[in-house]
Amino acid sequence: MVERGVMPTVSRRVQAIPPSPIRGLVPLAEAAKARGIRVIHLNIGQPDLPPPPGVSAAIAAAASQRPIYTPSRGIPELIAAWVRYYQRVGLSISLEDVVVTGGASEALSLAILATTDPGDHVLVPEPFYAPYLGIFTAAGVELIPVSSPDSYGPVSPEAIRDRISPRTRGILLCSPSNPTGTVYDDVTFQALANLAIEYNLFFYSDETYRELVFSGARAPSALELPGLESHAIVIDSISKRFNACGLRIGALISRNHHVTAAAASLAELRLSLPLVAQLAAVAALDAPETYVAEVITTYRRRRDTMLAALQQIPGVRPIPPAGALYLVAELPVDDAERFAAWLLTDFALAGETLMVAPLSGFYATPGCGHQAIRLALVQPESVLERAASLLATALEIYPGRRA
Ligand SMILES: Cc1ncc(COP(=O)(O)O)c(C=O)c1O
Repeated sequence: MVERGVMPTVSRRVQAIPPSPIRGLVPLAEAAKARGIRVIHLNIGQPDLPPPPGVSAAIAAAASQRPIYTPSRGIPELIAAWVRYYQRVGLSISLEDVVVTGGASEALSLAILATTDPGDHVLVPEPFYAPYLGIFTAAGVELIPVSSPDSYGPVSPEAIRDRISPRTRGILLCSPSNPTGTVYDDVTFQALANLAIEYNLFFYSDETYRELVFSGARAPSALELPGLESHAIVIDSISKRFNACGLRIGALISRNHHVTAAAASLAELRLSLPLVAQLAAVAALDAPETYVAEVITTYRRRRDTMLAALQQIPGVRPIPPAGALYLVAELPVDDAERFAAWLLTDFALAGETLMVAPLSGFYATPGCGHQAIRLALVQPESVLERAASLLATALEIYPGRRA
């Protein structure tokens, strides 16, 4: 029977999307600021570094252009810029392999929608970038979390093999990882790729942080593995390595042209991306190589500073990241989510507090990550040191402190 006189409700699909662990504490932070407290934001990976110098000039130059619809796959200048940039980092791709997207976020949504059907499974090492769960839920796809033997390091190929079933459509890797900064070594990466080949799975590789590796090397790319051409779908972005997250430009890259054609036909549904952002992205991708090298140096210094500071705090166990721009730390607390909220509602030292992301939101497995947080290294070293000393004081007086 049709119900009458009640409010229409939003979809079950949307209701099933878990709340973001990163944004969930925002109202508490806003309330703290309204009380006059300065909040040091280490909760979200919004880079504080300037984008390449050419970006603002490109935005200014683009301002005189008519804001027209552009090709759904991206303007030719930007597709060519992605290919040039890939060439510079030693990866050979062609123009047909690229679909320009609204950040890595849209690239992943398109990749999932283009290659899965509702009820399919995708295997994902845990912890993982929290929005994956929402993207999968919206697509009706089940994210199957796979833990690594030492909790934060690379997942073992055996653990992935154990979870492959007839419903598995792919494996999604993120290296360097958000949140842990784990960088997959060549051997493990290849072994996981071999599984994709053996079981005829897609190999979604989120390479948003590919060059942000502290050892100076580059993380392995799914685009360089022989035999993986039909399986590899790379998710990329200018948000982090070029500090241009607000331009909202990324790319889906695959040599499987059934996949790029499917992604492009989905991209047609949103017509096009903003012209100004695309022109600015060309300037970002054409930045001199020294630009990214400096970004890496900055994050390496910040990582070292924060690690050293956290190692001094009794009961805190920082997990050294090998790349990306985050640091996971285990804390001596009853519940990191409660502690993160308490920092904003009950704690301040000389008018300051800090905002962190509880790690539980980066897991699909219930009960995981409840004694850990993720810190984004998106503040200068002096501010990170101050944040660490606030954390030390907060842990001394937090009522839910555990041994
Ligand atoms: C692993 C990972 N993938 C994708 C994204 C989304 O990036 P974008 O700004 O390009 O949409 C992020 C952003 O933090 C991320 O950390």
